[in-house]
Amino acid sequence: MAELNSLAGLSPAELEAHWMPFTGNRHFKSDPRLFVAAEGMHYTTADGRSVLDAFSGLWCSNLGHGRKEIADAVSSQLTGLDYSPAFQFGHPTAFKLAKRLADMAPGDLNRVFFCNSGSEAADTALKIARAYWRAKGRPEKIRLVGRAQGYHGVNFGGISVGGMVGNRKTFGPALDVDHLPHTLLPENAFSRGLPEHGGEAMANRLLDIINLQGAENIAAVMVEPFAGSAGVILPPKGYLKKLRELCSAHDILLIFDEVITGFGRTGSAFAAQEFEVQPDIITTAKGITNGAIPMGAVFASEDIYATFMQGPEHIPELAHGYTYSAHPVACAAAMATLDIYENEKLFDRVNEMAPYFEEALHSLKGVAHVVDIRNYGLAGAIQLQPRDGEPGRRAMEVVLEAYRRGILLRWTGDTIAVAPPFIIERNQITQIAETLRDILQDTQ
Ligand SMILES: Cc1ncc(COP(=O)(O)O)c(C=O)c1O
Repeated sequence: MAELNSLAGLSPAELEAHWMPFTGNRHFKSDPRLFVAAEGMHYTTADGRSVLDAFSGLWCSNLGHGRKEIADAVSSQLTGLDYSPAFQFGHPTAFKLAKRLADMAPGDLNRVFFCNSGSEAADTALKIARAYWRAKGRPEKIRLVGRAQGYHGVNFGGISVGGMVGNRKTFGPALDVDHLPHTLLPENAFSRGLPEHGGEAMANRLLDIINLQGAENIAAVMVEPFAGSAGVILPPKGYLKKLRELCSAHDILLIFDEVITGFGRTGSAFAAQEFEVQPDIITTAKGITNGAIPMGAVFASEDIYATFMQGPEHIPELAHGYTYSAHPVACAAAMATLDIYENEKLFDRVNEMAPYFEEALHSLKGVAHVVDIRNYGLAGAIQLQPRDGEPGRRAMEVVLEAYRRGILLRWTGDTIAVAPPFIIERNQITQIAETLRDILQDTQ
């Protein structure tokens, strides 16, 4: 059993009561890792240690922690207007936020639908795509296309389109979806930034699906511009442009899931801008409020919105929404978050730090167990050779040892992911790389 002071005073019964998400509960509870405070780049653990946040919490705290401006905005919103009904009534901050987001978004993705998470954003986008074709008089266009190793959250739409085996096989049949292959190609190992090989060929695999199912039956293709949760799997050069081309040619909507890539991670506000590919719908969450308050947002094009605006005016054009859509407190947190991105020019800072980050990660090439390193903006992954008969264990051990040595990372399969807040300093990037080097050298 763990030391009492590492348990933050929790009783065994309290520890047991919480069924933790995406966590080996028995493993965690035998040696809990508890944070009790956070400030700037660091967490404080229950036993008083400082841990460098090299993962932005969970890809969300892009500004670092304890931002007073967000806390103040949340606090004054709570005392001013704590809640307002999401349906049939509104509050001004929701509209102001929507306009501000629309101004940041690529092209004409000017219509913003609010929800509370990336999973809700994914299912919202998929429902919009199907309803769009129905409103266009083409109700047979309902099929959805995702990609192997894609992650679009945990709701039924998202797990169907997603291609993470662990999220799918446990839950029985969901939607009938086709999947593109993932783009992790051996010839692209140790690429810096976007890989060179296979872009067009991998995108052309969409033609196989179109030939099989018929474009007249397909509503949308949904992909992450780069797959985050599966371990920063990047699109080879030309891949996303080709996907766009094929979707346009066959009247298929292209949805980018930018839950991780949105709000600056690539160095642009959205990956769509960074990679110069215009989708029809973008889903976001996480960095929209710096993770301080749950929120998600789906951006749709003018054409999509206009297509829905028909029929009797008093009838909801889209029968969809959440009690907490555009929650006033989340909207206030988002407004304060956007102020900070802007005032501190943090997307520029990602561009400034990215070459240094790339260099530090790739300095681990040749270190024991490392079979691939990938990076873009302030996202990176170090893929390890799995230990024989124990997939996932080696990366887990490295990440847990890094935590003991004061660095928060994340493992997914045998890949270690790094995604620090945009305020990270160079010496902290060096600290991450050097700690990983030491640990990997000592790891079996
Ligand atoms: C690309 C992507 N989509 C959706 C989600 C799900 O977001 P949430 O956990 O907020 O539901 C995630 C979470 O990591 C994600 O990375």
